Amino acid sequence: MSDSKEVSISIENKIAFITINAPKTLNALNRKIIKEIHQHLYNIKYDNDVRVVIITGAGEKAFVAGANIKEFASFSKKEGQELAQSGHDLLFNKIANFSKPVIAAVNGYALGGGLELAMACHMRVASENAKLGQPEVSLGLIPGYGGTQRLTQLIGKGKAFEMILTGQMISAKEGLSLGLLNYVVSLEELMPKAIEIASKTIENSPAAIKKSIKAINAVFGNIGLQNEVELFGQCFGTDEFKEGTQAFLEKRKPNFK
Ligand code: CAA
Repeated sequence: MSDSKEVSISIENKIAFITINAPKTLNALNRKIIKEIHQHLYNIKYDNDVRVVIITGAGEKAFVAGANIKEFASFSKKEGQELAQSGHDLLFNKIANFSKPVIAAVNGYALGGGLELAMACHMRVASENAKLGQPEVSLGLIPGYGGTQRLTQLIGKGKAFEMILTGQMISAKEGLSLGLLNYVVSLEELMPKAIEIASKTIENSPAAIKKSIKAINAVFGNIGLQNEVELFGQCFGTDEFKEGTQAFLEKRKPNFK
C-alpha cells in the first residue's frame, strides 16, 4: 500500500484499487492528479500480483467532476492543446491500452474529463446516484480527453450528438440503457459489483486478456482522437472560452453572444 496526496492505491486479491480523493473540487483532474494515477499504473503494469484495476472517486458525491476548470481557465491555445495531448499520453490512452482490465466504479458525478476517464476504462459500473455528462460546450470548449470519440463509439452518433451539444447530464439508469454503463447498482453494492466483475476476469488467461484488449481497441483508430486534441486547443483563449470558464468560476450562467 502506498499513498500520495490525492490518489491512493491498495492491492488486495490481485485487484489494484486506485482512488482519487480531492473533495474540494469534486475530484476534478488537475495535472498533478493525472501524473499520480499515471505513476500508479506504471508501477503495477508488470506486477504479477495485480491482474485487474478498479478506479473510483472518494466520497459519495463525485467520481470525477471533470478537468480542473480553475487550472486551465487562463491557458493559451498552445497550453490547451498540450493539456489534452499530455492527458492522452499520460493517462487516457494508457488506460484504454492497459494490458490488464480496468474497471471504473462510478460513484457519483462523472462529467467532462470524469466521464472521459470512465470511458477510457474497459468497463463501467455505476451507483444509482451517478450523473453522466459532457458539459464542455457550456464552457466554450469541446471534450478534450477522448469524449467525442469514445462516447460516439459507446452510444452511437445520434445520442453522442445529443449529450455533447446539449451538455446535459443523464442519469445512471439512462446511461445503462444507452450502453454507456455495464451495470447500475446501489452505492453500497458498487464496489462488490466491480470486484465481482474483476474476479471473473482474474480466472482467465492474462495473455489472452491482453490480446483481447489489443484486438478490441484495434477496431478504433487514433486519428479522431488527434483531431479532437487540435480542435480542443483551438477553443482556448477565445471570447466564448473566457465567458464560459469565467461564468463557471463566478457561479453564473454563461452568456454567449
Ligand atoms: N474544476 C474545478 N473545480 C470544480 C470542478 C471542476 N471541474 N467541479 C466542481 N468544482 C468545485 C467547485 O468550483 C466548488 O468549489 P468551491 O466550493 O471552491 O466553490 C466545489 O467543487 C463544489 O462544486 P459545486 O459547488 O459546483 O457543487 P454543486 O453540487 O453545486 O455542483 C457539479 C456539482 C454539477 C458537478 C458542478 O460542480 C459542476 O458543474 N462542475 C463542473 C463540471 C464540468 O463542467 N466539467 C467539465 C470540465 S472541462 C473538461 O473536463 C474538459 C475536458 O474534456 C478535458
